Amino acid sequence: MSFLLPIFLFLVGFFPNPAFCENAVSSMRFELIHSDGPELLGTAIKPENRLKHFRELVHRDFYRKKMVSEMLGRRRRATELSGDGNSFAMPMSSGAYARTGQYFVRFQVGTPAQKFLLVADTGSDLTWMNCRYRCRNCTNPGGRRRRVFHADSSSSFSPVKCSSAACQRLPFSLTTCPAPESPCAYDYRYADGSYAKGIFADESTTVTLSSGERVKLKGVVIGCSSSFDGSSFRAADGVLGLARSNHSFAVKATDHAGGKFSYCLVDHLSPKNASGYLSFGSATTPSDCKSAMQHTRLLLDPLLDPFYAVQVTGISVGGILLPIPRVVWDASSQGGVILDSGSSLTMLAEPAYRAVLSALSAPLMAFPKVDNKPFDFCFNVSGGGYKEDLVPILAVHLDGAARFEPPVKSYVIDVADGVKCIGILSASWPAISTIGNILQQNFLWEFDLHNGRLGFEPSTCGP
Ligand SMILES: *[C@@H]1O[C@H](CO)[C@@H](O)[C@H](O)[C@H]1NC(C)=O
Ligand SMILES: *[C@@H]1O[C@H](CO)[C@@H](O)[C@H](O)[C@H]1NC(C)=O
Ligand SMILES: *[C@@H]1O[C@H](CO)[C@@H](O)[C@H](O)[C@H]1NC(C)=O
Ligand SMILES: *[C@@H]1O[C@H](CO)[C@@H](O)[C@H](O)[C@H]1NC(C)=O
Repeated sequence: MSFLLPIFLFLVGFFPNPAFCENAVSSMRFELIHSDGPELLGTAIKPENRLKHFRELVHRDFYRKKMVSEMLGRRRRATELSGDGNSFAMPMSSGAYARTGQYFVRFQVGTPAQKFLLVADTGSDLTWMNCRYRCRNCTNPGGRRRRVFHADSSSSFSPVKCSSAACQRLPFSLTTCPAPESPCAYDYRYADGSYAKGIFADESTTVTLSSGERVKLKGVVIGCSSSFDGSSFRAADGVLGLARSNHSFAVKATDHAGGKFSYCLVDHLSPKNASGYLSFGSATTPSDCKSAMQHTRLLLDPLLDPFYAVQVTGISVGGILLPIPRVVWDASSQGGVILDSGSSLTMLAEPAYRAVLSALSAPLMAFPKVDNKPFDFCFNVSGGGYKEDLVPILAVHLDGAARFEPPVKSYVIDVADGVKCIGILSASWPAISTIGNILQQNFLWEFDLHNGRLGFEPSTCGP
């Protein structure tokens, strides 16, 4: 039960900053490393391999999309049915989706701290890592190169008991309980066939504050995974759960960091040594108080858990609002939009997709067309004459008069030397639309969970 204790900070790190900014608090910061970075794959992506790379991304995005839709679809149908008073329980062993996060953080767990590289995923609620606990004949599922959390060597590791109420509330916990003191086990299944199995525990994690100070967060629920498999875990030791759920690291950590977390994603094709960051606490520092941050409401409807949904009011291209039926943006009906760090490409529900594709491609018809599935519009620019200002400005209008205008390179993407594509996909209809991490690049995104607000502003993701 001790996992219910709030996170406690050994060092008081989250003082309001007395400097210039009202809301500035000292924040904890993690470097966000792209999966194509040197630490993970050894080399940046060569131009001739880009198309293959995008096809892999799209493939994984579709798996993830399918799972998100299934999760939300089931709940939506459940509420429609609940008129007669029937309650509805989600099957806990099959609700996970493939996390295809492309950004990683270094994470320290245990006492003394052991270091891991985890996928940062706003769609996952469980934080877990490759781990061994009271294990004699274990093999390392990840192979020799994978880091292992040796739980027995951590003095702060405390398994959640399977007889506890906490165990029942944890996501994907199993009902098997051989003895009251046995650890609470989970079996996390993902849509793409990946899985992670292990036991839940209370642990301490060590984080570094923006001041450089290291603090310990106690009472964090982690998963000690004794086995796992799946292509999405190829490069990581586990997953850092940033979803909107009571058990996620993000929610626990932000409770003690002003209610906010933020991240800034660098271009996924950027130089190897470039990195963005993930931070807990306010995104504003005294030096950028007068920031250009815009805000919109986060939709905190339990039906949308654990995703971060926003209310889109329209999309304009070249300053002209596109004729897209409102129902496409309505999360309480069959549409809606989520912001997802674990999806790469943006997928728009078919009616929105058609309108956007046609408006964006109109001025690009002069270039020779290239066939490059799964993208519907690719063109050859090797003959010259292409300039970014030929592409009309895409703007996503959000509730509260906020307007998200990503840079052109985030939606007209380079898939090969001399070939560009409109890098948005169709999500069919009815469907929830997803703003993926490529469209989110070069922006700072601040999730204010206490106030139910999403802030964003252009950023180079620098220090
Ligand atoms: C460990 O593995 C060895 C050989 O594979 C086997 O003989 C032994 O019984 C195993 N021990 C346990 C505790 O499983
Ligand atoms: C999450 O915690 C809040 C506040 O403690 C509670 O009201 C809510 O029911 C919890 N949600 C779930 C899914 O347990
Ligand atoms: C990345 O490397 C390039 C050259 O390899 C260098 O010019 C640049 O300053 C480096 N950037 C960072 C953030 O280290
Ligand atoms: C693009 O056009 C050039 C000629 O301008 C041609 O040589 C090249 O093969 C074309 N590339 C593709 C992918 O069609």
